Amino acid sequence: MRTQQWDVRRLPRADGKNFLVTGGNAGIGYFVAEQLAGAGATVILGSRDTAKAEAAMASIRSRVPGARVRHLQLDLSDLASLKSTVDELDRLDAVVCNAGVLLEQPRRRETRDGHELMFATNHLGHFALIGRLAPVLSGGRVVTTGSFTAKSARLDPGDLQSARDYQPKDAYARSKLAQMLFGFELDRRLRAAGSTTSSVVNHPGGALDSLTPSRPPFHVRTAGQRLRGLPAGILLQGKETAAWPAVRAVLDPAVQGGQLLGPRVFGLRGKPRIEPVQGLFADTELADRVWAASVDLTGVDPLECRP
Ligand SMILES: NC(=O)c1ccc[n+]([C@@H]2O[C@H](COP(=O)([O-])OP(=O)(O)OC[C@H]3O[C@@H](n4cnc5c(N)ncnc54)[C@H](OP(=O)(O)O)[C@@H]3O)[C@@H](O)[C@H]2O)c1
Repeated sequence: MRTQQWDVRRLPRADGKNFLVTGGNAGIGYFVAEQLAGAGATVILGSRDTAKAEAAMASIRSRVPGARVRHLQLDLSDLASLKSTVDELDRLDAVVCNAGVLLEQPRRRETRDGHELMFATNHLGHFALIGRLAPVLSGGRVVTTGSFTAKSARLDPGDLQSARDYQPKDAYARSKLAQMLFGFELDRRLRAAGSTTSSVVNHPGGALDSLTPSRPPFHVRTAGQRLRGLPAGILLQGKETAAWPAVRAVLDPAVQGGQLLGPRVFGLRGKPRIEPVQGLFADTELADRVWAASVDLTGVDPLECRP
């Protein structure tokens, strides 16, 4: 493992490469986009909100001279809208499936497709997106952002969308586990099909806005917030450093399909390292069932969509 050799501050150049970052307009996704743009890549911010994407692109341009960034209209909670996504893109070297939603209200919400909102956005939207993008992603890398909460999630293939028992935190963890199982299963299926496209999974640890450096106008941390956040910094981190596992998953040529990356300190903060794929993440039978259910729910099979 090359943990010691990967330098988060000295990234390999990526000039001429095209990377799509979903949710690149805010949070961890913004910092993934900023760091990839700093390596010379063209970065496409997948965002449902044009104004937010414009603000994020302005921030990246102000910090990375000559940055190549652009916006792709993307709403992961609307499956029909994803059909035309590929028309907007020529070629991609990687897609970072970062966008995510964590609801806290006790009321279960559904998308217009009738799917539980977190499962739909975090998992089904990315599942369908990767299928739609297959024609422009040949030989590239799919990078899925999961969560440490997925390690202890309970995922009943008969109730993937928490229709019987809805608790927001459990439904979120379930959606993140589904995403990660998809990331691993995708790589197995790509290998079996002899594809040169690969799929890597990462998780960002625990990241708080109060530990995140300011990026005005969309994220401004006051001195008070910074002070109040200091104790949490013992265990957790800001979103700039939480971006490191995804950035390494995209750029490190030594990282291989099927691998999992996360922060090295308790899996919650610090430099990115390769972690063992074990426990629920290695449950191939569950992954297979989630894949089949996701094909049914989205009408898209990412493997069937390959050129
Ligand atoms: N923060 C943590 O501690 C932590 C821990 C484990 C895993 N994660 C994962 O890391 C990823 C980023 O988290 P974060 O903390 O950076 O979250 P965040 O600050 O809330 O940002 C979430 C991003 O997802 C986008 N998004 C939400 N719904 C969308 C939709 N329907 N279509 C397109 N984009 C959508 C948001 O766009 P809008 O601005 O339009 O809402 C925003 O850009 C998520 O996948 C999350 O599950 C985070």
